[in-house]
Formats: sequence, C-alpha cells, structure tokens
Amino acid sequence: MSIPFIDLKAQYARVDDAVKKGIDGVLEHGAYVMGPEIKDLESRLSSFCAVRHAVGCASGTDALIMALMAFEVGPGDAVFTTPFTFMATAEAIALLGATPVFVDVDPVTFNIDPDDLKRKIADVKDNSDDLTAKGIIGVDLFGQPADYARIEPLAQNNGLFLIVDAAQSFGATHQGKPVCSLGDIACTSFFPAKPLGCYGDGGMVFAHNDELHKLLVSIRVHGMGEDKYENVRLGINGRLDSIQAAILLAKFKIFPDEIEKRQAAAERYHKLLAGIDGLTTPTVAEGNTSVWAQYSLLARDTEHRTELMGKLKAADIPAVIYYPNPLHLQKAFANLGHTAGDLPVCEGIAGRIFSLPMHPYLAASDQKTIASVLKG
Ligand SMILES: Cc1ncc(COP(=O)(O)O)c(C=O)c1O
Repeated sequence: MSIPFIDLKAQYARVDDAVKKGIDGVLEHGAYVMGPEIKDLESRLSSFCAVRHAVGCASGTDALIMALMAFEVGPGDAVFTTPFTFMATAEAIALLGATPVFVDVDPVTFNIDPDDLKRKIADVKDNSDDLTAKGIIGVDLFGQPADYARIEPLAQNNGLFLIVDAAQSFGATHQGKPVCSLGDIACTSFFPAKPLGCYGDGGMVFAHNDELHKLLVSIRVHGMGEDKYENVRLGINGRLDSIQAAILLAKFKIFPDEIEKRQAAAERYHKLLAGIDGLTTPTVAEGNTSVWAQYSLLARDTEHRTELMGKLKAADIPAVIYYPNPLHLQKAFANLGHTAGDLPVCEGIAGRIFSLPMHPYLAASDQKTIASVLKG
C-alpha cells in the first residue's frame, strides 16, 4: 500500500459515527444554512482560541475578503504580505482593488521577514504618491506562526491593521497565545487538507473587537443590517453550511489529540532526517508551536530537489512543492511589474523546497521508509 500524503480516511474511521450523527441532525432540523451548529462551532472555537468573537464563513478566502472589507480596503491602499503563500492571501487584496506589496521572507521559517517589512512600509510611506500604507497580512506558512512579536509593533507604530492568515496554522501558538487570538483579525480555512478540515469548503474569522465583529457578521450576509433584507453596506454571501459546521464539531473533539500526533510525527522526521547531506529539516522558531500543516524540507539546490523527489516517486511516496512560483512572479500579478531577483530569499527557497507526507496518523514505520529512500 502506498503512503498517503494526507490520510483523511484514517481520520474518518475515528470520527465516522459522530460525523454521521451531526449530518443527520442537520437533515432532521432542516436549517441547512446558518443553523444552530454555526453558533455552537463559533463559540467552541473562540474559546479554544481565547478570542472574544468568531464568525463562521464559506472558506479561508472569504475569511480574508471579509476581514479586508471590514477595514474598508480599496483602490490606493497598500497591504503588505508575503509572496510565499497560497494565491488567496494576495488575491483577496487585489480583488478589492488594493495593491499587495510583497515582502521577502525569513530564510529559516519561510514567513514574512520583519526587517524587510519595515523597509517596505517606510518605502510606501516616504516614496509613494499613489499608495497609502493600510495594513499587513501575516501568513503562518506550513502551520508555524509568523514573527508577530516583531510584526505587531510595526503595525501599531505605523497605524496599520494586522490580519493573521492562519489558514494553515489553526491550533498553533506564538509566545503561548493561540494564533487566532493575534492581530486585529485572524482568518482560518477548513479546507479538507487543513489541520482542522471539513468535508468541503469552510472558514472562520476571529476578532476581539466588538465593532469589528458586528461588521464581519454584516459583511458575511450581503452587508445586512437589522435583518437580511436591510442592507447597510456591501457584503458577500460568505456563510458556512450547517452540515460543514456539524462535521467540524465532530472533528474538533479529536483535534487537540491530532495536534499532538502531528507534533510527534514531526519530531520523528527531525530525528530520522537529521544529518542527510544537503538536506535542511524545518525549524520551529523559539516561542512558536507549529501544527505542521506541511513538513517541508530544503534541498541543496533545484537539481538536488529533483533528484530527491525522483527517488521518492520511484518508491511511490508522494511529495509536493509548496510553492514552486512565488506570487510576485505569477502572471496574475504581472501588473505589479516584478522581475526575478526582486525577492531573492523567497525565490531561492521556492527553488529548493518540497514537502513530505504529513498527517496525525503517519506511521513511524512509513517515516522510516521515507527517510531510507531519501538517504539511499
Ligand atoms: C495561507 C492560505 N491562505 C488562504 C487560503 C484559502 O483558504 P480556502 O481554500 O479555504 O479558501 C489557504 C488555503 O489553501 C492558505 O493556505
């Protein structure tokens, strides 16, 4: 049997009764949209994240769009973010007519580099006639929080909002705090492959501030006022389905245990893969915990990566490159006028990185096989 990249079947075997019961409950009460499961899930996840408010929504992408809309982001606004992320992060900025300003990443954590962030903010503030510095989206790549201890003061000192894109890091912590309690607003995704995933699309937005919460609730349903047929602003259809919320409630029961299992699997990989010539295992920065959405290694160079991935493929072991093309070099952002070499750390990493199978049910014996293939 080949080793799955993410084993959702093993997880389902653990939760199938609870999931079926949850789905049946929705089918019986019939409130398929915005049913009681939504509030239940929001209340459980906000407690888990130690944050006052949670707003369930249709996807991680919608979570980001709703957060940016709550800050009235639009044309002429600069939002600073990393190019080494999934498309949705920067796409949400551009969809609202604003400009993503890409910041290079840290060579060890692959997350936004606070020194480059400081430079890019100063550059927009001092030298741009057509852009106003408005906010920052930090991304917690592969499940590890960005360096918020340094990013938060930069946001505050420059009057910028801070959105935490925790699509990959739900359940992780930074300096003892859950990631979704950080920033002004935190956004997550429940896409099936995410650490806490549903069986379709889903997401959530978190905020401490009551006003922001009210705005998010309104934006989620077409800018509703007192009821959904009073529209006081523009919004979206960003609702989370009751069935997905019921599935998440069932899966959330085993989520803390799954985080531990992911961390144990990562520890095993660290040990098994340490000391392989030219291979760099991932580092969790001091003060962080990761939920290991991905276990990503750096090869010596692109040729070495091709060689290692070839060995894995020959042994029927899946490996994936997240992300081969940084966003600043994607055609969709050609209007920003970037060329290769603009963000050298990120581009260097994109040419060397690859991810191994990672999930809570990954057997130690399979990890040994993977390590011996990489060594061989
Ligand atoms: C960092 C990041 N942001 C946003 C998203 C978007 O989430 P969704 O697929 O739920 O829209 C993802 C999903 O892959 C992601 O990895």
